[in-house]
Amino acid sequence: MANTIFIKNIQSIGKILFKRRLSFFWSKPGENFLTVLTVGLLVAASLLLAAFSASCKAKKAESIKEGRTGEVAKPLYTIGMSQCNLGEPWRVQMNLDIKNEAEKHPELRVIFKDAQNDSLRQQAQIEEFINASVDLIIVSPKEAAPLTAPVAAAYEKGLPVIVLDRRVLGDKYTCFIGADNKKIGYAAGRWIVERLKGKGKVVELKGLMTSTPGQDRHTGFREAIKGSEVEVIFEADMKWLEPQARQEMESALARFSQIDLVYAHNDPGAHGAYLAAKAAGREKEMIFVGIDALPHEGQMYVRQGILEASFEYPTGGREAILLALEIFQRQQVPKEVVLTSRFFTRENIDQGGESIEKLLAAKF
Ligand code: FRU
Repeated sequence: MANTIFIKNIQSIGKILFKRRLSFFWSKPGENFLTVLTVGLLVAASLLLAAFSASCKAKKAESIKEGRTGEVAKPLYTIGMSQCNLGEPWRVQMNLDIKNEAEKHPELRVIFKDAQNDSLRQQAQIEEFINASVDLIIVSPKEAAPLTAPVAAAYEKGLPVIVLDRRVLGDKYTCFIGADNKKIGYAAGRWIVERLKGKGKVVELKGLMTSTPGQDRHTGFREAIKGSEVEVIFEADMKWLEPQARQEMESALARFSQIDLVYAHNDPGAHGAYLAAKAAGREKEMIFVGIDALPHEGQMYVRQGILEASFEYPTGGREAILLALEIFQRQQVPKEVVLTSRFFTRENIDQGGESIEKLLAAKF
């Protein structure tokens, strides 16, 4: 609008000038000075207009990049995301967190692939992303060892790789994002020792032990119960899966007449164990503790009284997209981003849980 008025003004100045130019040679010296002044003004005005419209264009491009306009910009960067499986609510949430954040940045396009819990398939997906020349890879690996070589191959080709939640071996990747699983396992252990007043019989249902969160949640927990009389009477690898956890728990129930608590490395595992105990009519004899604390899963189980505690494991999906943007802007990024975690019990759930740091700082 302002531009149109401006252009119209310049057009009328032009017309005056044209008329004046015709009379230039037979006009008085005072009138000549007026004409030179008008030309000068006109040139200055056009320069101003050009500068103004260039700055408007730059601002618009910037706001498209920041996702503030309704315009759909052509994506500038393609991100390949390999998710180890979509069979568990936590993984569905991670993809959703990635999608929701990416949609705020129209210059990004994300291609999602589901490895269906198959490491060979996930290896192939990384290779496909390399061949398709995507600009960046996000991978949440099923297992550390099988994914190490393809991730390293991408990284060595100069393709940035963000490893999310489960690690690979070595350091040939751009950045790892995830919560501290050893600390979460340790915090769960401290909470359990306190809850059992230092003594009791525990079943540990472990996550896939070829994946790093399973290993770390185990080590952290064992460290925390050391020196107490909390005793692990049964342990099994339920591979993060609810049906497998249920099956393992059936064996534990068949073998042990006294079980005080079940510590499962994720909430689906804890819920599977609860279902097995309920089927045997023994669910009230014991306490169930899990990890993940999704609002519609672990937190809900706590509200329903199925779990006594659930420890949050953030997905890192949003953080991965924000980090990818930093990489595209050629900013220096850290090798590791550690996400914080909370825990939820019936006592604290209405206040949004409690930080595990606070739990660890407490003297028992
Ligand atoms: C989902 C999941 C989560 C768990 C995470 C560990 O596949 O099992 O429940 O916290 O993976 O990597």
